[in-house]
Amino acid sequence: VTTTELEQKVASLHRLERNLLKVLSEGSSKPLADAAKQAGIELDQARRAAGWLSSKGLVTQIAKEEKYYSLEPEGYKAAEIGLPEVRLARELKKNNENKEISVKDVSSSLGLKDEEVNVALGRAKRAGWVETFSRNGLLFLRRTDKEVDSAEQNLLEKLAKEPIEKSSLTEKESRTLSELKKRPRLISERLRRAVALRLTHEGSVALEKIPKEAGADKITVEMLREPSGSFPKLRPIDVTSPSPKLFPGKKHFVQAFVEEVREIFVSLGFEEVEGPIVQPTFWNFDALFIPQNHPAREMQDTFYLKSVKARNFAPAEVIDRIAQVHERGGNTGSKGWGYEWKIEEAERVVLRTHTTAVTVRYLADRRPEEAKIFTVGKVFRNEKVTFKSLVEFFQIEGIVVGRDVTVRDMMGILTKFYSKLGLSKVKFWPTFFPYTEPSFQSMVFYEPLNKWIELCGMGIFRPEVTLPLGVSNPVLAWGGGLERLIMLRYGIKDIRELYRNDLAWLRSVNLCQ
Ligand code: PHE
Repeated sequence: VTTTELEQKVASLHRLERNLLKVLSEGSSKPLADAAKQAGIELDQARRAAGWLSSKGLVTQIAKEEKYYSLEPEGYKAAEIGLPEVRLARELKKNNENKEISVKDVSSSLGLKDEEVNVALGRAKRAGWVETFSRNGLLFLRRTDKEVDSAEQNLLEKLAKEPIEKSSLTEKESRTLSELKKRPRLISERLRRAVALRLTHEGSVALEKIPKEAGADKITVEMLREPSGSFPKLRPIDVTSPSPKLFPGKKHFVQAFVEEVREIFVSLGFEEVEGPIVQPTFWNFDALFIPQNHPAREMQDTFYLKSVKARNFAPAEVIDRIAQVHERGGNTGSKGWGYEWKIEEAERVVLRTHTTAVTVRYLADRRPEEAKIFTVGKVFRNEKVTFKSLVEFFQIEGIVVGRDVTVRDMMGILTKFYSKLGLSKVKFWPTFFPYTEPSFQSMVFYEPLNKWIELCGMGIFRPEVTLPLGVSNPVLAWGGGLERLIMLRYGIKDIRELYRNDLAWLRSVNLCQ
C-alpha cells in the first residue's frame, strides 16, 4: 500500500471508524465492548465500524470465548438485603444504645437459619465488625468501631447491575469473586463469544494520519444555503470498498430472457400475438398440411385431452378447403395426400406441440397482405425428459407476410435476431417440414463447446397452407425452442437445470450480463 493510497483510505474513514480506531493502540487487543464504551459509541455501531475497518485491513477482529459472571436468583436477593454476615453486623450497629445482643435474639429477628448463623458469625468476627463473649451460658455479640464494608457485598451489588466479563475484573475483584463462588447458588459463570480488536500494522500507520478535522459525512440543507466558497470539505467516499450482498426479489432468469426476446422482436418491427395453449388438432396439425396419419400426431408424441371435442374453431368454408387440400390438393396445384380427411380427427384437442398453431390461426383470422408478427409461449411434447429435452418448454415463433419477401429476408432477420443475443456465427441448412417449402434449419456456432447447434426451423409456408386460408402473398415462418438459447447464454449443459430452481444458483445469476 502506497502512502497516498493509505492517506486516501484514512481520509475516507467514517466518523465511527475514526472514533473506534483512536481508542486502539498497537500491540494489544481490546474487547469490542470496552472499545465501544471508550469511543462513546453504541455497541452495534462499534460492531459495524469494526467490520468496515477489518475489511479495509486496518484492524483484525479476534473472536474468542469469554467467561462472564452474573447472579443466580439467590445472588440477587443477597445483593438486595445483604449477605448474612453483613446483615448481622448492620443489625448490631443500627442500634446505638444497645451495644450487646444475644446471638439467639439477633438471628431470630433476622430470620437466619442455624447453619447460616455460625458461618455469618465467623465471617463478621474475622472482618472485625463484631466480638463475641458468653454470659450465663449464652453467646453474646458486641459491636466494634470498625465500619461494615464488605468487598463481597460490593461485588454482588455491582453484578446485580450488569454481568461482568472475566477480563474486565480487577485483580482484587477476581479474588473476591473466587470467594463468592465458594458459596452455593450466588454466582453464575457462563461462556460467550467475545470479539477483541487489534490494530494491524497498516492500522497503526493510519492512526497517525487521521486528520484533525475530518470532512463532513453528509451534505445538509444548511450547507447548501451557505454562500459558495465556504462550503465545507466532504469526506471522500471509497466506492471500491466491499458492500454487503443483497438478494432482493428478481425475475426468474427464464422469464427475464423471454422479455429480452420480446424486446428484440419489437425492436425489429414485429408485433406480438398470443394464442391458447389448448388447440384443436385442426390448427395444430391439419391447417399446416400435416396428414391425419402423420407419426407426429400419435399419442406417444402428443398430449391429447380426453373426451373433449373442439367446436366452431373455423369457418365452414375454411374447413372444407383444408379437407380438399389434404385429399386431392384442392385448387392449390398440389396433388394432396390422397386419403379421406375426417372432421372427427380435426376436432380432437391437444396441448399445442408448437407455436406455429398460433401464427397459422392468425393468418386465417386476418388474411393479411402484409404482416410482421411473433409469439412466445409454452409448448408440450410427450417426450422423455433428458439433458436436452423437456416435456414442457418455450418456443419463439414468427412470420413475415409480404408481396416480395424471400428466403434471404428471413435469413437476414434471424441473423439479426441472433446477433442481438450475442451469437454471431449463423448458418442455414436445408431440411424438411410438411408445411414449408423450401425448409431450413438455423444453426449457430457455440464457441465453448466448439459445436454447431440447431436452433430453429423455418421456411416459406406452402400454398397448401396459405391458399385455403385466403392468404395469397408469400409467408416466411420460423419457430424454435427458447431454452436452448438460455443454455448457450449461461453455459448450462443440462436443460433440466433451468427449472431446478436451486435458490443459491438463482441468486448467483446476474441480472445484467
Ligand atoms: N414448428 C417447427 C418446430 O416446432 C418449427 C417451424 C416453424 C418450422 C415454422 C417451419 C416453419 O420445430
